[in-house]
Amino acid sequence: MQQTVVRVICAIGQSGQLGLNGELPWEGNRDPEYVADVARFFDITRGHVLIAGPKTIGAVPDFARTDRTLFVLRSHMDPEATLKQFAGRVVFVGGGPPVWDIYAPYVSHWDITRLPYDGPADRWFNPNWLTASARHQGDRHPNPSVRAGPSI
Ligand SMILES: NC(=O)c1ccc[n+]([C@@H]2O[C@H](COP(=O)([O-])OP(=O)(O)OC[C@H]3O[C@@H](n4cnc5c(N)ncnc54)[C@H](OP(=O)(O)O)[C@@H]3O)[C@@H](O)[C@H]2O)c1
Repeated sequence: MQQTVVRVICAIGQSGQLGLNGELPWEGNRDPEYVADVARFFDITRGHVLIAGPKTIGAVPDFARTDRTLFVLRSHMDPEATLKQFAGRVVFVGGGPPVWDIYAPYVSHWDITRLPYDGPADRWFNPNWLTASARHQGDRHPNPSVRAGPSI
């Protein structure tokens, strides 16, 4: 049976800042590292599937809406059933944080750019996502905030 390859690309500030007021905290910053990071995200995800919460999908610019599959995640959806719909594809889980809380156990590769931004945020990266592994399914994980799930 074909697998779904589940990946994440995200960008964080110096202390894990992810979002502010529904946007990237560094929105509008035209310094080269910020511009390059956004361009890289859309290059790498081109041709693949991007699944994310309603706000994150809503922020995808028009130019990137036709050359990739966009799928809005809602909290009532079962993550395994959702990922199985995309068997044989590479699926990027785009966040926000409540989505990564649930989908982190299925992620095989995290691609995190740490940008120079050091200002405020209202959405933060959670390092526990990186160890929310399917390995721990059926075990009691030492960190109770980590939810384990089977591989897809
Ligand atoms: N720096 C980065 O790389 C990066 C990446 C992504 C997002 N962001 C930032 O993060 C912010 C947006 O994220 P957000 O979390 O506020 O909104 P979001 O993208 O809409 O994601 C959260 C929503 O996803 C839905 N959802 C889908 N599946 C879910 C599940 N299994 N469990 C719980 N909720 C689920 C929920 O909405 P329902 O309950 O209505 O279904 C939830 O409110 C923005 O500031 C954005 O710029 C930053």
